[in-house]
Amino acid sequence: MSGFKRVLLLGTGPTSIQLAATLKKQLNCYVGISGRESVRSEKVFAALKQSSHLIRVSVQNEKHQAMAGECFIDQVFKGYGTIKGDWDTIIFSVTTDAYMDVLKQMNDELLKQVKCIVLISPTFGSNSLIRNYMKRINSDVEIISFSTYYGDTRWIHNQPPNHVLTTGVKKKIYIGSTHDPSENIDRLCQLYEKLGIALERMQSPIEAETRNISLYVHPPLFMNDFSLQAIFGELDTKKYVYKIYPEGPITQYLIREMLAHWKEIMNMIGKMNIQGINLLKFMIDDNYPVRPESLSREDIENFNHLEPIHQEYLLYIRYTSLLIDPFSEPDKEGKYFDFSAVPFRKVFVNKEGYWEIPRMPKEDYYRIKIIQGIAKYLNVDCPTIDTFIERYERKIETFTQSHREELLSHAFTVQHFAEDLQMICSEIGKSITAKS
Ligand SMILES: NC(=O)c1ccc[n+]([C@@H]2O[C@H](COP(=O)([O-])OP(=O)(O)OC[C@H]3O[C@@H](n4cnc5c(N)ncnc54)[C@H](OP(=O)(O)O)[C@@H]3O)[C@@H](O)[C@H]2O)c1
Repeated sequence: MSGFKRVLLLGTGPTSIQLAATLKKQLNCYVGISGRESVRSEKVFAALKQSSHLIRVSVQNEKHQAMAGECFIDQVFKGYGTIKGDWDTIIFSVTTDAYMDVLKQMNDELLKQVKCIVLISPTFGSNSLIRNYMKRINSDVEIISFSTYYGDTRWIHNQPPNHVLTTGVKKKIYIGSTHDPSENIDRLCQLYEKLGIALERMQSPIEAETRNISLYVHPPLFMNDFSLQAIFGELDTKKYVYKIYPEGPITQYLIREMLAHWKEIMNMIGKMNIQGINLLKFMIDDNYPVRPESLSREDIENFNHLEPIHQEYLLYIRYTSLLIDPFSEPDKEGKYFDFSAVPFRKVFVNKEGYWEIPRMPKEDYYRIKIIQGIAKYLNVDCPTIDTFIERYERKIETFTQSHREELLSHAFTVQHFAEDLQMICSEIGKSITAKS
């Protein structure tokens, strides 16, 4: 099934601009971009119109030149319902909680023509969700999940939003498809090789979806009382996501919850016959390395078999070793780059005039509710996950009560995502039956 000749990107965020440039530069695809109409996207559509569809990607680091470039995209669609033409490939680069909203607005005739759907930054269960929706319309379509988006890309301050900056590129990413062998996966492997990113093929898309570090670290880092107070504007001083208490949320209790949370997810994916991950090794080898002087290879490799107290100790060392970038050059005072100085973003009033919750933890709420729903479906206990959700929901309810007279976005509503969950669990049920 051949794809990547005519590619349609869904979403108008920085990732879509980077992806469009990559697809043009490396694969010479015909590229379209589509997005919903909103105050935010209006600026993107206006910049694209003004520049006659020119887009630009700059890079912060010279070694990421393969990502940089400028090109003209071929078509732009304002509103998913306005998309026209035949597209062999569609790429989702909208937030994971919006997949169904977007698909439902797209014309069934258009979806029937599609050969390949790519989820660039899905969450656990996203591939199952799309598969379940698509089987009625186009049951042969290939659906590919990456573990995560390959870069760190943002708008450039004071520049029109047809121009983005990529500040970092991942070293390794995982990929899985509903179709195996797959020409499309071969093509993506070649593409990522050109970008200097190692791509490891997994046996199934859901397995690739488990290789996403945010799944394991965001809920404990963001859904604790201290972080929630920082995010919901209850603290006077600036606080940092990756710092030790009281500059940030990291305490022995947070580390304990991080470990328990990982174990609950491992129990769940074990029930689905999916290979688990060594959390410490994944953090260090696939994400941010630490100096060998800080953590031994033996402890990293054996992490899964150690006593909980030993595991907590090693996770704590991992976070303290990365307070500074241990591979940066020290200044004259001997200070290394302040790697952990990532401030919490606070609730804010968006361009439509509504109170909004920043993407972290808003997107994590969807992710963790889906995981909780799958765990319940599989009869796996998840008390730590339940606690994260209770804390978060209590916080949004309290905020809602104290802002009664003001406009609040839908993110302040306790949600169940019942339709998404029912679709995901129905696919998971089928795959477990097929394996047994
Ligand atoms: N940027 C990065 O470096 C990076 C890194 C890792 C992972 N990711 C992930 O990649 C995905 C895209 O990132 P991004 O930075 O491009 O995101 P973004 O700018 O926040 O949003 C991407 C798109 O999603 C749309 N969207 C959000 N909620 C929607 C809804 N309910 N219905 C329809 N469309 C909706 C946005 O529309 P509006 O503009 O109208 O809101 C926008 O078009 C996210 O899931 C993000 O977590 C990004």
